Amino acid sequence: MGRMEGQIALVTGGASGLGTGIAKRFTEEGAIVTITDIQTEKGQEVADELGATFLQHNVAEESDWESVIASVLDAHGRLDTLVNNAGIFNNFPIDEMPLEEWQRVIDVNLTGVFLGCKHGVAALKKNPGGTGGSIINISSVTGLRGQIGGAAYSASKGGVHILTKSVAVETAALKIRCNSIHPGIIDTPIMDPAFAAAPDPAAMRAHIEGYLPVGYMGDAAHDIGNMAVFLASDDSTYITGSAMLVDGGMIAGLPT
Ligand SMILES: NC(=O)c1ccc[n+]([C@@H]2O[C@H](COP(=O)([O-])OP(=O)(O)OC[C@H]3O[C@@H](n4cnc5c(N)ncnc54)[C@H](O)[C@@H]3O)[C@@H](O)[C@H]2O)c1
Repeated sequence: MGRMEGQIALVTGGASGLGTGIAKRFTEEGAIVTITDIQTEKGQEVADELGATFLQHNVAEESDWESVIASVLDAHGRLDTLVNNAGIFNNFPIDEMPLEEWQRVIDVNLTGVFLGCKHGVAALKKNPGGTGGSIINISSVTGLRGQIGGAAYSASKGGVHILTKSVAVETAALKIRCNSIHPGIIDTPIMDPAFAAAPDPAAMRAHIEGYLPVGYMGDAAHDIGNMAVFLASDDSTYITGSAMLVDGGMIAGLPT
């Protein structure tokens, strides 16, 4: 028996990186998984590989959330676990950040998670027998501290951190749990533009690995997927409103 046997799970941003890793671990643990993404071709490919279902979905659009949740409930009659994972990154000095760039990141990373919590809670409330369920929001170490050039990103992830706690206290009596995961640096395509822009991408990778206390970047499925399985499973029924750091020691202390 898997740790999520028969659970109905929905993972946003499942076409790439952490979303694919989390969906992979969920299917391995026996869950019936739907992944969503704006990338349709890649999303369908990943779903086919994992034996999951793919739905096209822009997390910043409320009408998309309505149709995605309706589609999952039509197909399965319930939703047990929602992972609000889809996210984007940008990098501008604060005095050069165009308003549109600020808004674009807030729309996807924070409003997208708000919409997921809103429609996810409404669905979990309807589960037969009042069994509730688990909402897992992907924040970041940058949701706990600042980042040079990352004003929009860190504000969005800090928003997700505290939004998670509000949802948790509001829904705890309904057996709905809501927690955030704060990854450090995980090797996914979100890093590609930064590596591409670097004068020496290999040197940049070595620099990052050098300041991580564990000495390497995390793995989407093993490091983040396993934490998501824990938060989705009955192993974590007393945990809600928590911020789970999975960062290889990145913010435990300043590098010397
Ligand atoms: N990789 C890291 O080091 C790291 C660290 C901390 C937090 N995170 C967070 O993890 C999450 C996943 O990031 P990743 O590293 O896997 O990046 P990624 O770029 O590999 O994957 C993100 C996915 O989200 C999808 N997406 C983007 N905008 C969307 C939208 N509007 N609606 C639906 N889907 C959309 C993309 O198409 C992509 O498939 C993000 O929230 C990111 O901020 C990543």
